[in-house]
Amino acid sequence: MAGDEGHDRARLWDDVYRTRPADALSWYQAEPTLSLELIDALGATSGSAIIDVGGGASVLVDHLLRNGFTDLTVLDLSEAALRTSRQRIGAEAKVGWITADVLRWEPERAYDLWHDRAVLHFLTGEDVERYRATLRRAVGPEGSAVLATFATDGPERCSGLPVTRYSSRELAMVLGDGFEVVEQRREVHRTPGGVEQPFTWLAARRLPA
Ligand SMILES: C[S@@+](CC[C@H](N)C(=O)[O-])C[C@H]1O[C@@H](n2cnc3c(N)ncnc32)[C@H](O)[C@@H]1O
Repeated sequence: MAGDEGHDRARLWDDVYRTRPADALSWYQAEPTLSLELIDALGATSGSAIIDVGGGASVLVDHLLRNGFTDLTVLDLSEAALRTSRQRIGAEAKVGWITADVLRWEPERAYDLWHDRAVLHFLTGEDVERYRATLRRAVGPEGSAVLATFATDGPERCSGLPVTRYSSRELAMVLGDGFEVVEQRREVHRTPGGVEQPFTWLAARRLPA
C-alpha cells in the first residue's frame, strides 16, 4: 500500500458511512445468520475472543453480545462506522473498538476467532499478503477464521472500488498452510435495494502445530 493510500481509503469509507444510513448500504444485513452459524460451527464459546475485522456498522456485535459473548472487538478504518455502532449499542457495552487499517494494524493480543465479511475482497497483490500475515499473527494457536467475500459470479465492484471474487478454495489459500476448512458455504445476499449478490463463505480452524 503506497503513501497516502491508507488515508484516502479511510476518507472514502468515512464518506460512505456519513452520507447514507447504515441500513441502506448494499452490504447491510439485519440478521447476520451465516456469521453466527459459522462462529458456532467453529466451536466458539461465550469467552472466546472474537474480532470482527472491517466490522463497520454491522449488527454482528449486537447479536454476539445478546448471545452472551464477553470478549468482542470490532476493527474498522472508518471512525464514522464505528461511531454508528457504538451509539447503537451503548457506551456501557464491553466491546473493544479499534479504528485502524487492517493493512497497518499491529495486533497486541491473540484472538480466538477472526471474522471478516466483505473486507478482504477489496485487497489486491501485496495487500493480500499483508492481510494474511496480520491474520496469522492475530489468530492464536487454536484459533479460527470466518471469511466472506463476493463469489466468483458476484459483483465486480462495491462502493466504486474493484473487488476480487473468490471460490472457497481460493479463500482457503489466503489463510495459507496450517488451517483446516470446517465449512464452506454459498450465500446469495439481497441488498436493501433488492439486488442479489452471491458470496463465498469459509470457516477454518488452525491445525495443532
Ligand atoms: C462492505 S463493508 C462490510 C462491513 C461489515 N463487515 C458488514 O458485513 O456489514 C467493508 C468494510 O470494511 C472496512 N474497510 C475497508 N478497507 C479496510 C481496511 N483496509 N482496514 C479496515 N477496514 C476496512 C470499511 O470501512 C467497511 O466498513
